Amino acid sequence: MSERITAPRIFQLKQDRTKIVCATAYDALEASLLDEAGVDLILVGDSVASVKLGLANTVFATLEMMVHHTAAAARGVERALVVGDLPFGSYQSSVSQCVDSASKLMQAGARAVKLEGDFPDRVAALTHAGIPTMGHLGMTPQSVNKFGGHRVQAKDADGAASLLASALELQQAGAFAIVLELVPSEVARSVTEALSIPTIGIGAGPYCSGEVQVWSDLLGLGTRTYKHAKPYLSGRELILGALRQYAAEVREGKFPSEDNSF
Ligand code: KIV
Repeated sequence: MSERITAPRIFQLKQDRTKIVCATAYDALEASLLDEAGVDLILVGDSVASVKLGLANTVFATLEMMVHHTAAAARGVERALVVGDLPFGSYQSSVSQCVDSASKLMQAGARAVKLEGDFPDRVAALTHAGIPTMGHLGMTPQSVNKFGGHRVQAKDADGAASLLASALELQQAGAFAIVLELVPSEVARSVTEALSIPTIGIGAGPYCSGEVQVWSDLLGLGTRTYKHAKPYLSGRELILGALRQYAAEVREGKFPSEDNSF
C-alpha cells in the first residue's frame, strides 16, 4: 500500500504544482474503486441526499446520514484522504455545534471535514480542535433556496471580490483547501493565484489546483447531464443492458444453468 494521503499532503500538492484529483463516494465499494484508481481525496458529499437517497437536494441530508455514509466509505479506503461533508443544520447555529458535528464525522472515519460558506470562526475552531477543514465557496448547494437555483456565482466584479475576500478569510482561519463550485474560470484562476492553499474546482474551469466530480456524473449513471461534468462511462446504458439481459435469461430458463448449479 502506498502512503496514506493527509491534509498537509493535499496542501503540498499545490506547492509541487501537481493537480489534485478528487471525487465523491458514498459507500465502501465506490470509495474502494476510487482509491484503487489513485484518486487523492474522496469526499463523502452531502450530495448523497440526491445522488443516492432520492431526496430533492442536499438540504435534506442529515448528520446521521453523513455519519453512516462516511463510515461506510472510510472502510473502503486505504490511501486517499476521506473528507466528510458537514450537512445543512449541523454547523450553522454555533461554533460548538460545528465542532460537535465534525467530531462525529471524524469518529466515523473521516480524516478531514468540509463546510459550505463564509464561516472562518468555524474553520478556526475546527483547526484548533485538530480537524483539518476544507471550505466550499461559490454555488454552495445548501443555500440553493437563497440563490433560487443552482446558478453560476461571482459573475460580476463585486461578486468576484467578495468571493476572494471570503477565500482569504478561510485560508487565514486555517482551511487546508477550498472547493470552488460554479464560478467563472477567470474568477477561479485569480482566487487560485491569490491563495497558498489549493482550490478544488467543480464547474470552475481548468485553472484550479484540482478538480472534484460527483460519482454518478463521472460514470454516466444519472438521467441528467451537466455542462460542468464529463461522463467517462455510459454507465446507465451499460448497467441497464446487463440487467435486461439477466432478466431475459432468467425468464428464458438460460440462467442459472447446470454450470451455476451444485
Ligand atoms: O456534496 C458534494 O457532492 C459536494 C461537491 C459537489 C463538492 O459538495
